[in-house]
Amino acid sequence: MITKQAVLDALRHLEEPGSKRRMTESNLVRDIVIKEKGVYMSMSVSSRNDSETGRLKEETERALRGIGIDSVHIRFRSMTERERSGPVSSAARNEPPEIAVGKDTIFISVASGKGGVGKSTVTANLARALAAKGKKVGLLDADIYGYSIPAIMGIRERSELDGNMVVPIEAFEVKLVSMGFFSEDNAPVIWRGPQLGKMLRTFFTLVKWGELDYMLIDLPPGTGDIPLDLHSIIPLSKEIIVTTPHANAVHVAARAGELARKTKHDIVGIIENMSYMAVGGEKIPIFGTGGGERLAMELNARLLAKIPLEAPYEERPDLYVEGTSLFRETSQAGRLFAKIAGELIGCLRTLDRIPAL
Ligand SMILES: Nc1ncnc2c1ncn2[C@@H]1O[C@H](COP(=O)(O)OP(=O)(O)O)[C@@H](O)[C@H]1O
Ligand SMILES: [Mg+2]
Repeated sequence: MITKQAVLDALRHLEEPGSKRRMTESNLVRDIVIKEKGVYMSMSVSSRNDSETGRLKEETERALRGIGIDSVHIRFRSMTERERSGPVSSAARNEPPEIAVGKDTIFISVASGKGGVGKSTVTANLARALAAKGKKVGLLDADIYGYSIPAIMGIRERSELDGNMVVPIEAFEVKLVSMGFFSEDNAPVIWRGPQLGKMLRTFFTLVKWGELDYMLIDLPPGTGDIPLDLHSIIPLSKEIIVTTPHANAVHVAARAGELARKTKHDIVGIIENMSYMAVGGEKIPIFGTGGGERLAMELNARLLAKIPLEAPYEERPDLYVEGTSLFRETSQAGRLFAKIAGELIGCLRTLDRIPAL
């Protein structure tokens, strides 16, 4: 997907014909909307002389063809007094702030060392549990290569655009944006490094999150580029680390914890998932025991809960919200997520709130 930033970068050299100022630096290129391979935008110019705007359009088209854009629609308008006197800041233009989620939002990223430990299941269930307690919750599925939140929450639609902003999908009173909404037919995403960093920023800056109490972020497993990027974009995020009771899982989860620690993220707690299976009143440890406790000790963090491995949907549909992997409160896992949500609300009080970004 081509981002607004990529368009701005490609147009960096453009000069406004009258004033000879760099157009993007002076915020004269605006209202960029990207649709498939076409781009719509407006440009403020000193004079709407046809040959000058014609040349500007040609230059723009040439630059954007270089990043794979086939058709360019430009609306030219005359500069305002203020634009003539210098660059206009985004605040003066009344545009959304850098990160559009409200200044009191608490960011909670959910990390794990390995994939398959239930990180996404935990994130989605926790988001729903916080929303069920009346909190305004956003969920960013930042597991760019392995997004699964839409499937877990039973969502089939995709986000829509409002102007150049993405509107999250709402389900169970949680506002969700997922990489899955931007890739065709579930195709694996093959972007690399720099584009990814920009993509993540886009998720924060170009999404109409509205006011949120909590923003949960489902991180990709491990300690690769994406967790690192996220740590730098949201420096004060709180972190929850998910592990299974298995020794290997703990070992790699500890590394994810170390990354959080190095980047000064507070670890709010550990969740041990798939801790046991309840069979006729007995708790059978399928994947070993003690992992959660050990990790909590290693990272000097609290063990928030041990979530049992529930029977799958096919066997016990009564434990799940229909068509989803969200646990009903009648299941033990569902009760535990409600309890964790209550504790998080209690321990991340106003005092802990992250100052405006
Ligand atoms: N507590 C649990 N009880 C039953 N199934 C679970 C539980 N936690 C996760 N699962 C299942 O395990 C699989 C992996 O979970 P997922 O959340 O996708 O892991 P991750 O995000 O860490 O890769 C999914 O099929 C999910 O439904
Ligand atoms: Mg996942």
